[in-house]
Amino acid sequence: MSALLNDLPRYRRMTAIDLDAIMDIENEVYPHPWTPGNFNDSLRSGYHCWVLEAAGEIIGYSVVMIAADEAHLLNLSIASSWQRRGYGREMLKFLLKVARDFDAGKMYLEVRPSNIAGRGLYVSAGFGEIATRRGYYPAHDGREDAVIMELELK
Ligand SMILES: CC(C)(COP(=O)(O)OP(=O)(O)OC[C@H]1O[C@@H](n2cnc3c(N)ncnc32)[C@H](O)[C@@H]1OP(=O)(O)O)[C@@H](O)C(=O)NCCC(=O)NCCS
Repeated sequence: MSALLNDLPRYRRMTAIDLDAIMDIENEVYPHPWTPGNFNDSLRSGYHCWVLEAAGEIIGYSVVMIAADEAHLLNLSIASSWQRRGYGREMLKFLLKVARDFDAGKMYLEVRPSNIAGRGLYVSAGFGEIATRRGYYPAHDGREDAVIMELELK
């Protein structure tokens, strides 16, 4: 029974102690990963930083900034070996609930046009594209645009 419970995915708040495990995933899933400093700054700034655990390990994490009625999804990542099993969608659903609980009226995010998985996830959750930021991201051969997406929460 307890072994089964331990295998159930659960969310908890991220702490600095999690950063080694998070950086392993971050470096694995992004060609241009965040640094430990980016996560530390997010924790220090009081952003909503969550980890998703299953089978005793961190399998995903996210960072959301909520201010002035707006939520900004800054990071949402699932470890490669746990992808395509519905955890990204579940975690996004969880974050939308957190944002609503904190009275955010909209959630915004930026995603690379080349990120097929990310865009697919966000479109299927109801996000719409509202603008493009030219040359926003570093890319292996220069810069890549960011697509800005928005979801009404109320
Ligand atoms: C984007 C990401 C979080 C999706 O997590 P996931 O757990 O694999 O996604 P899910 O299994 O919940 O899939 C949800 C939907 O996302 C889309 N999707 C996920 N992976 C996809 C892929 N490889 N190709 C196309 N669409 C994909 C699909 O619409 C999918 O719905 P479906 O299964 O009904 O087709 C994950 O791929 C990831 O961590 N990628 C690296 C980090 C990243 O790019 N994060 C987003 C930054 S903006």
